[in-house]
Order: sequence, then C-alpha cells, then structure tokens
Amino acid sequence: SIVRRSSVPGVSSVSRRGFASGSAPERKVAVLGAAGGIGQPLSLLMKLNPLVSRLALYDIAGTPGVAADVSHINTRSEVAGFAGEEQLGQALEGADVVIIPAGVPRKPGMTRDDLFNINAGIVKSLCTAIAKYCPHALVNMISNPVNSTVPIAAEVFKKAGTYDEKRLFGVTTLDVVRAKTFYAGKARANVAGTFLCLLPEVNVPVVGGHAGITILPLFSQATPTANLSDEEIEALTKRTQDGGTEVVEAKAGKGSATLSMAYAGAIFADACLKGLNGVPDVVECSFVQSNVTELPFFASKVRLGKNGVEEVLGLGQLTDYEKKGLEALKPELLSSIEKGIKFANAN
Ligand code: NAD
Ligand code: LMR
Repeated sequence: SIVRRSSVPGVSSVSRRGFASGSAPERKVAVLGAAGGIGQPLSLLMKLNPLVSRLALYDIAGTPGVAADVSHINTRSEVAGFAGEEQLGQALEGADVVIIPAGVPRKPGMTRDDLFNINAGIVKSLCTAIAKYCPHALVNMISNPVNSTVPIAAEVFKKAGTYDEKRLFGVTTLDVVRAKTFYAGKARANVAGTFLCLLPEVNVPVVGGHAGITILPLFSQATPTANLSDEEIEALTKRTQDGGTEVVEAKAGKGSATLSMAYAGAIFADACLKGLNGVPDVVECSFVQSNVTELPFFASKVRLGKNGVEEVLGLGQLTDYEKKGLEALKPELLSSIEKGIKFANAN
C-alpha cells in the first residue's frame, strides 16, 4: 500500500539561497529500486536535498517501510512509498528526475556484463513505464551494465516515440568520485600535505564508459595539478578502473558499492535539478548520446541545463597514454552498446 507522510512543511533557508523568487521550484524525484542497497541511502540523501519537493520511492517490495522511515526527517520534501508494479505509474507521474538503481549487483568473479541477463529486462520494463507516465523526466541510469542499460533505455524510448537524447544519462559519477579520491591521496604525498584540505576542490574528468578499461580517467587534466610519474598515473588509472571490483571483493558476496554510489548518485541528481532550475555552469561527467567519438554513446563532461544536456563537452588534450586507453576501450564499449540495442529490439 502507498505510504504518504508529510514532512515539516515549508522550504528550508538553505534551499532559498540562490533563488531570487524566494523559493526553489517544485521538483519531483522518483527513485526506482529504492529499497535496495543503493536505493535506501540514496533516498536518504535525496530527502536531504532542498531542491526536492516530492520524493517517490518505488521498489517491488519494502518501500512502505523505507518511505515511512525517511519521511520523518524534517526537510522540505514530501515522501511517498510505492510497492509493486501496479503502483509504478503513480510513483512516476509528474517526476522531473527518475533515478534507477534497480537490479542485481555483482558478486566476486563476475563482470558487470554478467548482470545483463537479469538487469536488461528490469530496465526495459521500468523505461517502458517512464515513457508512459513521465516521458519528459531526466533519467539517471545507475543499473549495470550501464554501457548497455543506457542504450536499452534509448531504444525503449525511441519505440515509444518519447526519446530525447538530452534527457537520458548513464551515471558515471562514482568513477569521478573515485578518481578524485585516489588522485588526492597520491598527489598529497607529492605536495607536502596541502591536498587534504583541497580534497573537495580536486577535479578529474573520467570519460568512456562504466566497466573496466572503458573507464578512462584523464589525470592529465586533473586539478589542482600535481607532478605524478607515469607509473603513478598508470597505477591511479588502474585503481579507478578496478574501483568497483575492489568493493565487490571486499564485500565478499554481499554486493557492490552502495554507500559511495548513493553519494555519487545524489551528486548527479542534484546537478540535474540545478540544471533544470537554471543554475548556470553545471558540469558533470555522464554516459550520454554523443558525437565526441564515433561511438553512439560515450561518457564525457556534460553541461546540464533546463532541458537536460545543454552541451556535450569534448575530450580536451589527451596524453599518448590516454589516447592509447581511448582506442583500447572502443571495441568493448561499442559491443556493450550494440548488445543493449539488440536486446531492446529483439524483446
Ligand atoms: P540491491 O540488490 O541491494 O538493490 C536492488 C533493488 O532493486 C532491490 O531492492 C530490488 O528489489 C530492486 N528491484 C529489482 N527489480 C526491480 C524492479 N523491476 N523494479 C524496481 N525495483 C526492482 O542492489 P544495489 O547494490 O542497490 O545495486 C543496484 C544496481 O546498481 C546493480 O545493478 C549494481 O550493479 C548497480 N550499480 C551501479 C553503479 C554505477 O556506478 N552506475 C554503482 C554501484 C552499483
Ligand atoms: C561500481 O563501479 O562500483 C559499480 O558499477 C558496481 C560494480 O559492479 O562494480
């Protein structure tokens, strides 16, 4: 059954900051897979976001409890829980942003592609409902394999006649979060401790896709700059590419990254909301339809605006090492994209 709980009414002073009109616009965010390992902390973080006025938490089961729990937090948004397919439409209706962390996570020894058989169908059915109930929402796809689930979503939307490439995003923010953390950790040693306080300001673009070698961090463009050796850059690149596996192995059968993913997902959804609200210069990396390379989808820096993607930014100057990484990732990324497209059109 649907659980509705109003939180403390009104808009917090934090949310009023930066809006001349005195309050942030009404924005509904739906989380699909909200009772899961990512879904729960992500729902918590979205409840803390003052840009959200309505938060719809959907899962096949368990959402009434999560919604009741989260709804007691005295922030702006009104929370509603929806459980079971018959309530999916209500969860989606009027959504400005839909975040999808629904589906199974990896266990040790698996690749993200091993999740395809289960998650492709889940994503397809959720996107069919999005096309029906909130065709203009910005879709933040977290479910793996992202390199295939985003193309699946695009095909579903095309078939429904609702596809807008500006509104579909593969969430690769966790790769950026990891690259920033690992870079700051390494660079700190090289610049006498000053990086610790700079950590929130560290920036590293990550391009390509979201699996293994398709994850390509561009440490040559990292800021603040640090004098890292080729070996150090190679090690940082590898650690970023294997970041997901590092967590999967540490969790030893109990799933993959959930807390850091919730953090990353909340950052990306916040950027989408800021873009929708007209905040200028909101730039995040994301896996989107792209002309940056010959591949139809590619992750790069994207400027977000009132209609979603405002501009897909280019790769900038690459080092020889990064150029090699870029060429090496293309066949795998293309084959994952094609696998998604084929699935969506065959089923
Ligand atoms: P989890 O198993 O803890 O939670 C998944 C949730 O999805 C469950 O609550 C389940 O009931 C729900 N679900 C299943 N089918 C559904 C459907 N048809 N509709 C709605 N909900 C449904 O898994 P998790 O750890 O939260 O991971 C979820 C997904 O996110 C996995 O595919 C994982 O690989 C992926 N992931 C992606 C990134 C990324 O960077 N993009 C990072 C971490 C995890
Ligand atoms: C991650 O990067 O943590 C996620 O894609 C989950 C995984 O399977 O590694």
